[in-house]
Amino acid sequence: MKMPLTSLRASRWLPLCALLLTAVAGAARASVQTTQPPLRPIRIDLQDQAALRTGALYTLHLCVACHGIQGARYSELPPLLGLGKATFLKTIGSNGRHYHDTITSNMSTSLMMDFTHMAPLDLTEIAARRSPAWLYTYLTSFYVDPSRPTGANNVAFYNVAMPDVFAGMQGLQQPVMVNGLRFGSPARIAVGVRPLTAGSMSHAQFDATARDIVTFLYAVAHPHQQERMRLGPWIIGLFVVLSVLTYLIYRLYWARVITGTQRWWRVE
Ligand code: HEC
Repeated sequence: MKMPLTSLRASRWLPLCALLLTAVAGAARASVQTTQPPLRPIRIDLQDQAALRTGALYTLHLCVACHGIQGARYSELPPLLGLGKATFLKTIGSNGRHYHDTITSNMSTSLMMDFTHMAPLDLTEIAARRSPAWLYTYLTSFYVDPSRPTGANNVAFYNVAMPDVFAGMQGLQQPVMVNGLRFGSPARIAVGVRPLTAGSMSHAQFDATARDIVTFLYAVAHPHQQERMRLGPWIIGLFVVLSVLTYLIYRLYWARVITGTQRWWRVE
């Protein structure tokens, strides 16, 4: 069957159109730029059970007021934290829930809607999606902003709906503003914070606590991370051994293949 000429022409132009569209979309995206504040670097150690315990204590007593951590059950935490069941229930506790329950928020969604006009996301989901550096920057960079309903804003999350739950521990902070772009328009952008009032913790103490919270959240959101790190080198080793064996088998097969020069019969 002969293809109509017009459709042939169209099919020839299609890739070009697609390329042009991609370029236009790229240009449009590039023009809607927002100045990104720098993230605070952080190193977390998933083996550090003291850090995980401090993180668990703050997360289960502070954050669970609003956020759930439904990727975990209370019963999964003691082995992670290096505690026995009884010690875990005595020192950290399960908020009056059953030991094998998943960790859900203590606040009802309707109450949260009244309070912050949205139901906060599950922390397992957040920690699986955000990097530790982002979480650390977010937790340490709430600042006073009287224009917001909660009186607080955040360097990593512009116009965040979460109130500054750390005000008592960290003290209040004021933003370091620069001229930048927000969605392509010139705006004042917060790129850091400066202390305004003193909290119950020193600056270094609070940063260490925030790091512990990030460590705990990361460990809960990536429950197989340690196992992966342990297994990784062995799996790569297995592939190396398999590659060597496969190469040897390849040599063996080709040694037995009779090539043209070795043939004693003639193909006419
Ligand atoms: C008073 C309720 C409340 C408490 C307590 C609270 N949060 Fe939130 N949090 C919120 C709300 C509401 C949002 C949604 C913000 C938005 O989308 O604007 C949020 C958002 C977040 C985000 C960003 C989510 C995203 O979209 O990436 C992180 C991270 C977070 N919270 C961590 C924590 C941690 C860690 C704690 C405990 C130290 C905590 N929150 C305690 C209400 C709360």
